[in-house]
Amino acid sequence: MLKINENYLKLQASYLFSDIARRVADFQAKHPDREVIKLGIGDVTRALPPACIEAFHRAVDEMADDATFRGYGPEQGYGFLRQAIAEHDFQARGAEISADEIFVSDGAKCDTGNIQELFSTDARVAIPDPVYPVYLDTNVMAGRTGGFRDGRYQGIVYLDSTRENDYVPALPDEPVDLIYLCFPNNPTGSTISRDQLATWVDFARDQKALILFDAAYEAFIRDETLPHSIFEIPGAREVAIEFRSFSKNAGFTGTRCAYTVVPKECTAWDSAGNRQAVHPLWNRRHCTKFNGVSYPVQRAAEAVYSPEGQAQTRELVDYYLRNADHIAAAVKELGFTFVGGANSPYIWIWGDRDSWDFFDLLLDRAGVVCTPGAGFGKCGQGYIRLSAFNSHDNVVRAMERIRGALA
Ligand code: MLT
Repeated sequence: MLKINENYLKLQASYLFSDIARRVADFQAKHPDREVIKLGIGDVTRALPPACIEAFHRAVDEMADDATFRGYGPEQGYGFLRQAIAEHDFQARGAEISADEIFVSDGAKCDTGNIQELFSTDARVAIPDPVYPVYLDTNVMAGRTGGFRDGRYQGIVYLDSTRENDYVPALPDEPVDLIYLCFPNNPTGSTISRDQLATWVDFARDQKALILFDAAYEAFIRDETLPHSIFEIPGAREVAIEFRSFSKNAGFTGTRCAYTVVPKECTAWDSAGNRQAVHPLWNRRHCTKFNGVSYPVQRAAEAVYSPEGQAQTRELVDYYLRNADHIAAAVKELGFTFVGGANSPYIWIWGDRDSWDFFDLLLDRAGVVCTPGAGFGKCGQGYIRLSAFNSHDNVVRAMERIRGALA
């Protein structure tokens, strides 16, 4: 008799964004005449930058000719893309990262979900609350938690991100091995200063722990005092892995391209207490379970780093930042307490009522989809998240409708 992985039975209902999509579909089926504006999931709405599209087309044409056709590529990504990433995203900022420390993949969601496979099932895991659900759910699936009690999984060290700490969690007061951090933060839109991040790096070094740093929203940073990468912090190479994505800066949510940075010094220990480098383990996993991102997609991603691509992606991000600014101004005018909306596409709003009730209210009365904060964890209860990823016109109309609904 085949037994299932019972850890899956511990998971809460469906994945947050699938649950929201189902509720919105039900609403639309009941009210086919109502137009819904989606400020829920952080999915981009604007076309890929022209530089990416041109590179994409050229690469597709290469695939149409035997002389330039390419079959399987290197699992880790083509050298042209890894080199461009290392130079532009890291070396240009003084972060010492080389091309062979970059692993190109089809998404930061997959990478942040899969990375935990490298570590022992008894690793003590610290996870922020509220949090992007993938970090938590994948640790539940792997069996690193007990059951779900009072809104939390037993065995996880939760790092509360609240108004009191400006949504930057304090260091845990118990030992941990694996630490998830995300800045600019999803879902709160909060940012971390260089000094605060240095405190985490020092803590990880002290604990022989590892930080999994999700920087998928780094392109939204406009305050140049803020770190774009954890590798700008001295000492991080031994204790950090970073995740990046082309989804939010260049609109690749449907095109799929991302990357993970694993420095050669990055370390974990075996049961005999010997140091083990993480880089070859991730390489082994990547080569075994992944066959690379398609050649045309990697050429399109490479074009992000051309002078035109840089200007166009900046313009794209500025467009969404203008939306974020508009949402933040409207929310402020309505008298809500909020964080985010600057250096981030997300606005995290204290609704002072149950998150799902607020979600229903905005959907019913305004036809606007938000993300209920409670879906991101216990500390998210009472909040909602609005995303700046939509057309400016829709964002303006959504905020007018919310104003009308709450009047
Ligand atoms: C979000 O809305 O939190 C993200 O867009 C989801 C994702 O990137 O997977």
